[in-house]
Amino acid sequence: MAEVTELNRSHFNNEASNYDSKFQKTIQQLTEALQERLDFIGVDWVANEEDGDDQGYGGTTPSREVRLLDYACGTGLMSRALAPYTTQCVGVDISENMVGVYNATAQNQGLSDDEMHAVVGDVTVPDDPRPAALSAPHFFDFDVAVLGLGFHHFVDPPLAARRLVERLRPGGVLLILDFVTHEPFVKHEEQDQHRGHGHGHDDKEKVFHNAAHTVTHHGFSESQMKGIFESAGAGRKFAFQEMGSGVVFTMGRARRE
Ligand SMILES: C[S@@+](CC[C@H](N)C(=O)[O-])C[C@H]1O[C@@H](n2cnc3c(N)ncnc32)[C@H](O)[C@@H]1O
Repeated sequence: MAEVTELNRSHFNNEASNYDSKFQKTIQQLTEALQERLDFIGVDWVANEEDGDDQGYGGTTPSREVRLLDYACGTGLMSRALAPYTTQCVGVDISENMVGVYNATAQNQGLSDDEMHAVVGDVTVPDDPRPAALSAPHFFDFDVAVLGLGFHHFVDPPLAARRLVERLRPGGVLLILDFVTHEPFVKHEEQDQHRGHGHGHDDKEKVFHNAAHTVTHHGFSESQMKGIFESAGAGRKFAFQEMGSGVVFTMGRARRE
């Protein structure tokens, strides 16, 4: 395992039990932002039964499946935000403890493994394009692959995008939510040395800075993302949308029809 991947595994194993409470506000904001962008994401969603049948996401035809791959799923932000519009969410993450929280939350919500379940896995290993843990048929042919706030942690983001597109059905959608290009975060302690002790940090700032050693990229520009989507085979209908707080939503469709 690459050193930075191991750093991520260990960092997020430690963070897992507190992640949802630490990021409660951010999780709520991103959930709302995702649900406001169902049309932008462009999947032929199934309707949310609670919303009734008037949403235009394809009705409640029980025979139709909409399958979502949530890569670097963590505790399940992306899955839970989009589950009302899908029939199955499959999570994959490098951290056993994040996967544990994902599955415990799904079970607490009364969901079956068929509806929402995560496993430990890594598609970003250069010489292992089909990891054994992710080789079963239900890890392929997804309608949408989502990657929420994980892209900036990868050694080779273009490789990760390619590997996710390989798991889409023809015409399936790749959605990446990450940061726009920004100044590098420095470690919390280093920041204290520069500023002098006694300066407060808000909790969110502290958590991001303490995760600085797990970050490989300081956000992504639109042109970088466009190049990555094109070389991954998902440049068709490429779109990039920025949220006020520097988070971007990038989508593109897999080339194969
Ligand atoms: C900031 S968290 C985001 C989690 C979740 N998607 C969310 O939006 O809340 C980043 C996640 O990426 C995972 N991760 C880092 N490198 C990974 C890799 N190579 N393969 C799979 N997951 C990885 C971490 O374990 C962590 O759960």
